Amino acid sequence: MKITRRGFVGTLGLGAAAGLLSNTVSKGSGAAAATPGPTPETRVYDGGIMQLNQNESARGPGPKTLEALHSHINHRLGRGYPPDHVNELQAAIAESYGLANDNVLLGTGSTPLLEGAVRAFCSPERAFVTAGPTYSTSEGMATNIGAPIKRITVDQSMSLDLEAMADAARGAGLVYVCNPNNPTGTVHSYAAIENFVRRVLSETPDIHVHLDEAYINYADPASMQTALPLVKELPNVFITRSFSKAHGMAGLRVGYALGHADKLRAMQKAWNMGDINMLAAIAALTAFKDKEHIEWESKENAEIRTFTVAAIREVGYEVADSQTNHIFVNVRRPASEFRAACLEQKILVGRDFPPFENTHCRISLGSREEMQQAVAVFRKVLA
Ligand SMILES: Cc1ncc(COP(=O)(O)O)c(C=O)c1O
Repeated sequence: MKITRRGFVGTLGLGAAAGLLSNTVSKGSGAAAATPGPTPETRVYDGGIMQLNQNESARGPGPKTLEALHSHINHRLGRGYPPDHVNELQAAIAESYGLANDNVLLGTGSTPLLEGAVRAFCSPERAFVTAGPTYSTSEGMATNIGAPIKRITVDQSMSLDLEAMADAARGAGLVYVCNPNNPTGTVHSYAAIENFVRRVLSETPDIHVHLDEAYINYADPASMQTALPLVKELPNVFITRSFSKAHGMAGLRVGYALGHADKLRAMQKAWNMGDINMLAAIAALTAFKDKEHIEWESKENAEIRTFTVAAIREVGYEVADSQTNHIFVNVRRPASEFRAACLEQKILVGRDFPPFENTHCRISLGSREEMQQAVAVFRKVLA
């Protein structure tokens, strides 16, 4: 029987899994050696606090992306109206998904795209439908513009309650579906999303459906697939993606939406998407094409996640099934307490996520070395 490394970690005892992690780090496996991440030192921030509180990539951009950045620091940066590579990036994304250029809208991160969508499709008369907990930027904008908010608590398994969200969506302006979901890490299959979208649109034909796929590169394709076919078929459905996660470029600020040209134009008219700068554009273009690195990043993250989840479950704590670079742990105490105890050990974990702030805490996954240290702290704190 062929055992993959991922399967191997999953079936090993924790001690052995930890050994495998450190072994890979010190020797470097084939793919890891070809695409090395930063040294652990680069991840230790001011004051020596390990940052496991934001869902960034612990490893940053891949080597090809870093190389592209370095090689584009030259006199050409003096020209920027328009900056080189931005149109090229848009065209590369469009071509890769079989879309026209005007079906792709770039933003300085996906944040302005999320905000623009709320401004374009919600109003005091048209509600915003979301989950609790989920990524909250869109809800923040709905609050700002005075749109009614319908927030549906996740179910027992920490998955979005799509049925209740569909009920709440009747007559609303926009429904936000984060798949995979931040902070719970859970995913929904293509079939589940398709049923949801078709039901929502049949009941409210002029509603818009936003599928946030910021973490899709970390998900197992057997568990979820992109909703792109729905975007191609249904004008009121759009996707957003981010280069801040698996592509390791949170500090460079690039994201994009895929959707019907008229809808993207409405979002752009409603809000400023920012200007992608030349270095961010060449980095995103390189990262987008470097499929090998993303595959490596996803595998690396999955192994670290398996190790971390196993360690926490071994001491008797529940962790929601995650397909992302973060996990949502039932720490059976207020997140603030767990956070304070971890901070004493120089580890910063996630903020409160109502309505689970008294029981659950989100932990973003760091590098292998970081998670080995962190797991020892979590076990001590939880004991
Ligand atoms: C689900 C989700 N969507 C969007 C974003 C926004 O990220 P960015 O603006 O860096 O693309 C985040 C950031 O954490 C996120 O978790």
